[in-house]
Amino acid sequence: MRISASLLLPALALTSLAALAQAPAASQAVALTPPMGWNSWNYFAERVTDKDIRDSADQIVATGMKDAGYVYVNIDDTWEGQRDANGVLHTNEKFPDMKALADYVHSKGLKIGIYSSPGPKTCAGFEGSLGHEQQDARLYASWGIDYLKYDLCSFIPAVMEKQAPNDKAAQMRLMIAAYDKMSKALKATGRPIVLSLCQYGWDSVWEWAPALGGNLWRTTGDISPHWDRIYAILEQQDGLASYAGPGHWNDPDMLEVGNGKLSLAENRAHFTMWAMLASPLLAGNDLPHMKPEINAILTNRDVIAIDQDPLGKQAHHAYSSGEVEVWTRNLKDGAIAIAILNAGSDLYSTHPFHLSLAKLNLHGPQTGKDLWTGKSITLTNNQPIELPSHDVLLVRIGAPK
Ligand code: GLA
Repeated sequence: MRISASLLLPALALTSLAALAQAPAASQAVALTPPMGWNSWNYFAERVTDKDIRDSADQIVATGMKDAGYVYVNIDDTWEGQRDANGVLHTNEKFPDMKALADYVHSKGLKIGIYSSPGPKTCAGFEGSLGHEQQDARLYASWGIDYLKYDLCSFIPAVMEKQAPNDKAAQMRLMIAAYDKMSKALKATGRPIVLSLCQYGWDSVWEWAPALGGNLWRTTGDISPHWDRIYAILEQQDGLASYAGPGHWNDPDMLEVGNGKLSLAENRAHFTMWAMLASPLLAGNDLPHMKPEINAILTNRDVIAIDQDPLGKQAHHAYSSGEVEVWTRNLKDGAIAIAILNAGSDLYSTHPFHLSLAKLNLHGPQTGKDLWTGKSITLTNNQPIELPSHDVLLVRIGAPK
C-alpha cells in the first residue's frame, strides 16, 4: 500500500512540523552509523527465552562479534505477559526478570533491545502498547532498554481500518501519528533509545520516518532464509539510497546469515549486499552453534567497515548485464566500494560478463582490495569476471580514478 507524500502533509501538520523539526538531532545521535547487533526472531521466533538472550550475549562476546562492532541484543516478539490493574505490563514466564536480564546484557558491555506494537496486540498475538504508550516507554527506560522495534500489525485492523474504513489517506495519518506518539514517549523518558519502525515500508515510510525521530524503518515485508526472498528484498531497495544517512537508515530486514539452507556464497552475498545498503546489521542466527565459516562472514572487518562508513551513503544499483548486477557505494575520503553479484543460477550466468568501468565513471585500471580474499586486485575495463551462482565480488578502491 502506497499513498503519495502530499497526502501526508495534513498528518504532519497535525503533529506540528515545528515540534518534529526539533526531534532528529538528539534522537539520531544513537544511530550515526547503522545499528549492529543480534535479534531473536529469525532463529528462535516465538520460542525465545531469557536463557537464549543471555547465551546469545555471551556468544557475541566469545565469538569476537562484539569486538567487530555488534552491540545490540534485541528481544523480538513473545516476551510480553499481561497488564495489571494499573495497566503496568508484566513479562511472561519465559522472561522472569527483565531488569535483571538487561543488567546482565549491560554487564557484558552490550545493549539490549525490546519489541512492541502500536496496536492492542503484537504480530504474535501478545500484549501491544495501544493506550499505554507513555507507560510502556517509562517501563522500558526503567529496565534499561536501549532499542525498541515497534511493529504495526494489529494496529491495522484495530485502529486504521476501524476508525477510517475505506479511507487510505486517513489510515496512513493514524499510522504516522501512532509512531510519532511512541517516539515522543521514548524521548520523554530522557533515555537514548533507538527507534526501529516496522510497518513493512507502507506509505513510503522513508519519506516521513526521520522527521518523527525514527532511526531505521523496514522497507519491505519479512525476510526468510531463502535466496529468492533475500534477492527480492535487495531489488526493492533500488531507488531508496537518498533516504538513508547518519541517524536514519533503510532497513531491508534482519540478517539470515547462518540460517536455513543458504549456501556459503549466498550467505556471503547477503552480508555483502546488506553492507553495501548501509543496512542495520542485526544477525539472527543460532550463535551458540555458529559454524566458523559463518562467524568469519559476520566478523569480516573490511565488509563491516563498508556498512559502517561514516559518510552513510547507501549503495545504488549502477547497472545490470544479464543476470549480473553491479552496485557502487561512495565512501569517506573519496573511496568507493563496488559489488558485483551473480544473481543467476549457475556460473554460466557470468558468461559473457565483462565489467564496464566506463559505466561506473572510472577511467583506466583501478587497484583496490578484494574484501573477501583480503588480497589486492586490479579491475580493468571490459575485464571478464566469473562468479559462482549467487556469489559476489566486493572491492574497495581507496583512490579511484
Ligand atoms: C512481524 C515482523 C517480524 C517479527 C514478527 C514477530 O512479522 O515483521 O520481523 O518481528 O512480526 O511477531
